[in-house]
Amino acid sequence: MDKGPIGVFDSGYGGLTILREICGLMPQYDYLYLGDNARAPYGTRSFDVVYEFTSQAVRYLFGQGCHLVILACNTASAKALRTIQQKDLPRLDPHRRVLGVIRPTVEIVQSISQTRHVGIMATPGTIRSRTYELEIAKLCPDIKVTGEACPMWVPLVENEEYDKPGADYFVSQRIESLLRRDPLIDSIILGCTHYPLLMGKIRQYMPQGIHIIEQGGYVAQSLKDYLHRHSGMEQSITRGGSVRFLTTEQAETFQKKATIFMGGPVEAERVQL
Ligand code: DGL
Repeated sequence: MDKGPIGVFDSGYGGLTILREICGLMPQYDYLYLGDNARAPYGTRSFDVVYEFTSQAVRYLFGQGCHLVILACNTASAKALRTIQQKDLPRLDPHRRVLGVIRPTVEIVQSISQTRHVGIMATPGTIRSRTYELEIAKLCPDIKVTGEACPMWVPLVENEEYDKPGADYFVSQRIESLLRRDPLIDSIILGCTHYPLLMGKIRQYMPQGIHIIEQGGYVAQSLKDYLHRHSGMEQSITRGGSVRFLTTEQAETFQKKATIFMGGPVEAERVQL
């Protein structure tokens, strides 16, 4: 069996916040990042379309030699992961794996919330899928979950407006709306990989004492545990410490923005799925 890098996929730039944490924790492996920037955002698209686009991306990454692909996108994890795992994988290659970001995030909620009232801020697609509610109900049925769709947050990030004055209105509006709907919330999951870029504004408008849960570190730790438990998969990963970036949009635009996310220079190639 030929070894390959770990594939990391997102609709655009958000998955870089996950990739950064994974690379930080496991710098020894090779990584291949794919951003479907030409078709982002996914958050307002239907189930069928998100599944179709995500499935194309996964097949592309398999074709590039990845045995393991991380959907570093909540919308894709909510709307496409299960179908890919149950329908696509047995047909494509039962030995390859696709993992999402929702389960590792949900697993830590139970130890964090004291009031047992948790808020989810995510794209309209993730909120409408009710995946977080269903997953939390399985693990901790005593927790009350309130979801708040934030349709403007991803466009603010994709358009580099996340730290500009215009973002204040959209960020404060959604936080106030969520806390009005359930004032007992003591923990909020940022259920979209783009949102860490808005952290400055989110902290500014979040009342003191509310725990803000960022996924990157938990997803990275969960992947490390997974590879520890699945030595066959771990053996299938090349170990060169490299990161390659692919985008479906212009490489130059991606490079410029990805540099902000990664905190260092990024070289990208444009690909067609
Ligand atoms: N970053 C993706 C997520 O975690 C969403 C971005 C989009 O709407 O495309 O949900």
